[in-house]
Amino acid sequence: MCGIVGYIGSRSAAEIIIGGLKRLEYRGYDSSGLALVGDELFYKKTKGKIKFLEEKIDFSTVAHFRTGIGHTRWATHGAPSDINAHPHFDCKQHIAVVHNGIIENYAAIKTLLMEKGHCFASETDTEVIAHLIEMYYQRDNSLLEAVRNSLPLLEGTYGILVISVHEPGKIIAARKGSPLIVGIGSEELFVASDASAVVEHTRRVVYLDDGEIAEITAHGFTTYDFNKKLVQKDESHISWDIKAIEKQGFPHFMLKEIFEQPHTIRNAFRGRALIEEGEVRLDGLRLTPEEFGQVQRILFVACGTSWHAGLVGEYLIEEFARIPVEVEYASEFRYRKPVLRKGDLVFVISQSGETADTLAALREAKSRGVKVLGITNVVGSTIARETDGGVYIHAGPEIGVASTKAFTSQIVVIVLIALLFARKNDMPREEVREYLRELEKIPELVQTVLDRNDEIREIAEKYYTRTNFLYLGRGVNFPVALEGALKLKEISYIHAEGYPAAEMKHGPIALIDEHMPVVFIAIKDEVYRKIISNMEEVRARKGEIIAIATEGDSEIHRYASHVIYIPTVSKLFSPLLTVIPLQLLAYHIAVLRGCSVDEPRNLAKSVTVE
Ligand code: G6P
Repeated sequence: MCGIVGYIGSRSAAEIIIGGLKRLEYRGYDSSGLALVGDELFYKKTKGKIKFLEEKIDFSTVAHFRTGIGHTRWATHGAPSDINAHPHFDCKQHIAVVHNGIIENYAAIKTLLMEKGHCFASETDTEVIAHLIEMYYQRDNSLLEAVRNSLPLLEGTYGILVISVHEPGKIIAARKGSPLIVGIGSEELFVASDASAVVEHTRRVVYLDDGEIAEITAHGFTTYDFNKKLVQKDESHISWDIKAIEKQGFPHFMLKEIFEQPHTIRNAFRGRALIEEGEVRLDGLRLTPEEFGQVQRILFVACGTSWHAGLVGEYLIEEFARIPVEVEYASEFRYRKPVLRKGDLVFVISQSGETADTLAALREAKSRGVKVLGITNVVGSTIARETDGGVYIHAGPEIGVASTKAFTSQIVVIVLIALLFARKNDMPREEVREYLRELEKIPELVQTVLDRNDEIREIAEKYYTRTNFLYLGRGVNFPVALEGALKLKEISYIHAEGYPAAEMKHGPIALIDEHMPVVFIAIKDEVYRKIISNMEEVRARKGEIIAIATEGDSEIHRYASHVIYIPTVSKLFSPLLTVIPLQLLAYHIAVLRGCSVDEPRNLAKSVTVE
């Protein structure tokens, strides 16, 4: 949510910042801007996508600027507009600030500063930061000091970058609640919201922590805590390269990521599923045998698609390991005084590892003395670093705002966790081995579903003009129905609801008529006949049915107008297959409607505000 990038070195800062912003565009795309500093301060900002900003810059006339900061915005305070785009400035336009986060008490600060004679140009919360720094600079005569003295007045969250004509050879960066990394090159440094903005230049990075402020020059950087104490930082290496964040011939990142799933699913269990031994190895959980023995309840806490993966996890863990599970929206969990007891184990699930509500829930649970583990994708993310242990899903960078490959990888990791606990709770080794053998085959089965892409596009062509969809599933495929509906909503802006199939009778059935397509997940499992009855009920009301069914099921054609087959698989692994056609259906419908698939309106990939 909002992407920020800064550069200082010997190359044209404008080129590098625009390149970095394009990589960060998935974090927000309402407006963008940059500021460059040398003998003077240059800036450009504009509403809309980065390409509009790029068109406004004459790169040859700004090539001499070697220091700069840029921003791509997801609007919180103030509508998307040229004036509300970042950077924001002090009264004299000597200081420029970009900011990711929310300053909750900005109105009070703004009033105070206006009383002191400061003039504001925008409606944003961010602008107060620039004016505060201006005020302190007059006294401290040091950019670092002025930023440091401004920070205690700010309530809320921020990752900020600050430059000034007073001290053109430096960037000051500070973070509280919003991610920032420093990329280390040769006589050049980068600073950004995430690694995708810097990886084409360097894979050496340092993660800033909350409560840290860094003074960055072309030759190096120094990090302090907010009390001026020097902090020694360790360098990390980014394990993936630029290819991972390019479309590689696909028209959209989302389609590329859907098609990557055979590979990403395999990466999620590789080295962890010890098939012949009938064991699972997840050393990152860092649980002692006693701690394993003490677990009496597992809580999954997450948002969005990750929450749906948690719901799938509830079925997996309860059935495999017989441990009770609760699944919580992070935003609800953090504010409702949850009852946590000895024997509880909390897993926070987050692709980005930066979602503000999930992070707050993690801190809440930790503060109550409960062990909190993470299931994250982004290595070095805040959630990954603040949890007591966890498992990376190793899906590689996910750029499409609507999550796809992360969902299936999260489920694979939860399957492994479920089998690990099942073994501890005496599931025979042979049984675990059989499940792991089946898991090993999932990537090729996923590929067979992907091979049906053309069929799915044809179905999309029939339905893309509809205004409502209903998705129904039962058991472990109920969360998949929710996920299918979410995908459609997110990228095609069609209203869609997911429901447990049997609950349809208690409400959604009233909506069904010939205009309502109903997507049923109707695989051959113990509730298959019940699902067929639900289909009859829909048909009786003229609803049109698209069914996801098990290969070889010819009966289903009697009820469904369209059938998408998936191979036979154990019920508990079926979400890894049933979700694929739903991802593709949403994708094709969105493309046919001319929607911006990778950057759907109003959404952001990483929601770092409440
Ligand atoms: C946003 C994204 C979703 C994602 C959710 C949770 O809403 O658009 O795709 O599922 O955040 O994100 P996380 O990174 O915590 O999994």
